[in-house]
Amino acid sequence: MNVVMTDIEIIKAQTTKIHDVDFEHLSFGKTFTDHMLTCDFKDGKWEAPKIVPYQPIVLDPSAKIFHYGQSVFEGMKAYKDVDDNVWLFRPLDNFKRLNISSKRLAIPELPEIFFMEGLKALLQLDRDWIPKKDGSSLYVRPFILASGNGFHASPADEYKFVIACSPSGAYFSGKVKVLIEEKYSRAANGGVGYAKAGGNYAGQFYPTQLAVDKGYDQVIWTDDNTHEYIEEAGAMNIFFRINDTLITGPTSDRILDGITRKSIIDIANDEGFPVEVRKITVKEVVEASKNGSLLEMFGAGTAAVISPIATFGYKDTDYDLPELDHSYGSVLKKRIMDIQTNKIEDKFGWRVKV
Ligand code: PLP
Ligand code: COI
Repeated sequence: MNVVMTDIEIIKAQTTKIHDVDFEHLSFGKTFTDHMLTCDFKDGKWEAPKIVPYQPIVLDPSAKIFHYGQSVFEGMKAYKDVDDNVWLFRPLDNFKRLNISSKRLAIPELPEIFFMEGLKALLQLDRDWIPKKDGSSLYVRPFILASGNGFHASPADEYKFVIACSPSGAYFSGKVKVLIEEKYSRAANGGVGYAKAGGNYAGQFYPTQLAVDKGYDQVIWTDDNTHEYIEEAGAMNIFFRINDTLITGPTSDRILDGITRKSIIDIANDEGFPVEVRKITVKEVVEASKNGSLLEMFGAGTAAVISPIATFGYKDTDYDLPELDHSYGSVLKKRIMDIQTNKIEDKFGWRVKV
């Protein structure tokens, strides 16, 4: 698509909400910046993006998002370094994945320039909202929804692309307790598991609530066919350390190709940790836990970065992970966050200055 971009129209907010925010005690995704980016798809093309004051989106009750769930989203973060420079982490990968998700949901693909230039203009305008505190960042949520009207079960003729931003602290506080799922599935072969489709998350809420009712924080998703293979941890990719080897499953139709996951694989290789990308069974993990070779389990994703797992439950038994002084998880988390926040050299070329 050959799209050129002139200056983005900006309508500034009359007042700022920033003074109401306690940047020392941020929760995740609950406060929003003064502005948002919007871009409409109409008459067969994406119109130029605009930045407007953060505001509700008004839609017709027949808008297809409400009925057929045609929506996709991304999750990324903007960071500020000690000199107040603003950084993104592998943003082009988020853009590419948004279009991969859109294609699967029959949503028209967005031009790269609208995403990248729109994002940078929004972050420049709301740059004071980017937290500097260690462990905090500006969570950036680009999303597309079907705004076109009609009850006919077919793709909408109009869409909205929006970027909203939220200064955020940690997604999880501390280590998590997870339950290996034996009945429900997040994704199936030929389905939409590899896409960041809104409906994938809606489908997770009920089984996750059942796990929460039993005292767990998250569900470990297994394959839909046999429930023998481990696939993802809630809305994160999952890693295991058995003896000295770091193991994660290969991506597939059913697994999201996580940007944190692939960065961790590269960092672990660089650190000299043996890494295996291969299928891993529940049986292998339970046996490794029983014989003491399962040393770590952690989830990996943009929101949570690396989330260490303290305990996993399977068939009414809980298995505890050991407490390690020098875990792979903590080394990898520090290195990825130090790259993201411009504290150390970025030999991979992942950081992008805004
Ligand atoms: N898996 C699922 C289902 C997710 O929703 C996410 C979150 O984005 C991830 C994995 C991790 O992906 P990333 O590291 O790109 O955020
Ligand atoms: C992310 O890690 O950015 C995600 O999108 C997960 C989420 C659903 C909060």
